[in-house]
Amino acid sequence: MKGRRPESAVAAQFQDIRLLDPADLDAVLALQKRVRESLPDPSLLADDPPEFFARHLSRPNLIGGIERQGRLVAFGVLAFAVPAAQNFGTHLAFAPPRLATVGQLDGAVVDPDFRSAGLHARLVRWRIGEAIARQCRDVLSTAAPLNVASWRNMVRYGMHAVALRTLFGGLQRLLLHRDFLHPRVPDRAAARICPLEAEALTAEFAQGRIGVAVAGRGMLMAPFVKES
Ligand SMILES: CC(C)(COP(=O)(O)OP(=O)(O)OC[C@H]1O[C@@H](n2cnc3c(N)ncnc32)[C@H](O)[C@@H]1OP(=O)(O)O)[C@@H](O)C(=O)NCCC(=O)NCCS
Repeated sequence: MKGRRPESAVAAQFQDIRLLDPADLDAVLALQKRVRESLPDPSLLADDPPEFFARHLSRPNLIGGIERQGRLVAFGVLAFAVPAAQNFGTHLAFAPPRLATVGQLDGAVVDPDFRSAGLHARLVRWRIGEAIARQCRDVLSTAAPLNVASWRNMVRYGMHAVALRTLFGGLQRLLLHRDFLHPRVPDRAAARICPLEAEALTAEFAQGRIGVAVAGRGMLMAPFVKES
């Protein structure tokens, strides 16, 4: 019989993504605290209060969690019907009806002991699937430019870095977006590499380029067309 491939051996340590519920709040808060305390630069992860997680453990929002031997080791937040003040679609000048159909990937953490096992990638893919199932037109998220592990998974699953904004009380964040109705089609033949610095990224976005992949220590940025 054929042996198990190494990546499926890793995957087998973890349970399937489970929709968390309000009874999971303490486990969510404990993991968020543990991850924040492990970060060399805490500004990479927004310091969301307990009420944020309580709200996202209830409908229409959802938090998907991954457990290992009964312990929560990763989760990802997906918000729906996000009020305009918190809706990243306002930065793309969406009109109110379109804002209402945004699915917002609003944070994910992975236990430091289980990084690089693809858990974040699974949570990104799963949340995009949930947003499609709820008939969202757009998915949006943010990531610090230097948080490559975070935005890399989002661009892998069809999101693009489309702007750099100052958010969350003064933090620089890439805005990541995927439009399911009119997907952007990047012209990779005309792509170039941009360093992960605010000035350079801002200049590229101003020229109509979008971030499509990791490239060395930078971001691969390409012009795009919109499908009609
Ligand atoms: C960001 C985070 C969620 C990633 O979780 P993870 O489960 O380790 O991610 P994955 O295993 O799916 O993917 C990580 C990938 O990025 C790669 N990677 C990690 N750091 C990298 C870097 N600096 N440059 C390029 N690639 C990097 C890994 O090698 C891995 O690639 P692979 O799939 O080819 O092996 C996790 O590091 C984390 O919890 N960070 C703190 C909280 C945070 O920043 N959350 C996101 C913002 S809300």
